[in-house]
Amino acid sequence: MTAPVVSMRGAAVRVGGRTLWSGVDLDVGAGEFVAVLGPNGVGKSTLVKVLLGVLPPAAGEVRVLGGRPGRAGRRVGCLPQRRSFDASLRMRGTDIVRLGWDGDRWGVPLFGGLRA
Ligand SMILES: Nc1ncnc2c1ncn2[C@@H]1O[C@H](COP(=O)(O)OP(=O)(O)OP(=O)(O)O)[C@@H](O)[C@H]1O
Ligand SMILES: [Mg+2]
Repeated sequence: MTAPVVSMRGAAVRVGGRTLWSGVDLDVGAGEFVAVLGPNGVGKSTLVKVLLGVLPPAAGEVRVLGGRPGRAGRRVGCLPQRRSFDASLRMRGTDIVRLGWDGDRWGVPLFGGLRA
């Protein structure tokens, strides 16, 4: 098996003085499609924040693409749960989905092709 793209060992997270989850061991391999399910407020979005390096884990080890979370640059995309758009902005469904790919370069796409 190739190195996992996401690896967690004994990971825990605390927000507002409260432990949301702990003892999490997880490996996600390249090409795997993974869904994280749970009730409102259980800590799913907080897991994404940890994987993006926005929030440090309170315990354990978290690796993304072999390094510390937040260090993978454009190799990681994120389509946020909520993003408000100006009512006059013309957005198609494909534009929103594409944010997961190039949302780090939010702006008007250059005419004639993809940006490097
Ligand atoms: N910065 C913060 N400070 C204090 N509490 C927080 C903070 N961020 C999140 N929380 C709390 O942590 C819990 C988990 O939040 P999170 O957004 O990860 O849940 P979720 O599983 O994504 O929920 P939903 O299904 O509603 O999207 C919630 O109770 C939330 O109020
Ligand atoms: Mg959420």
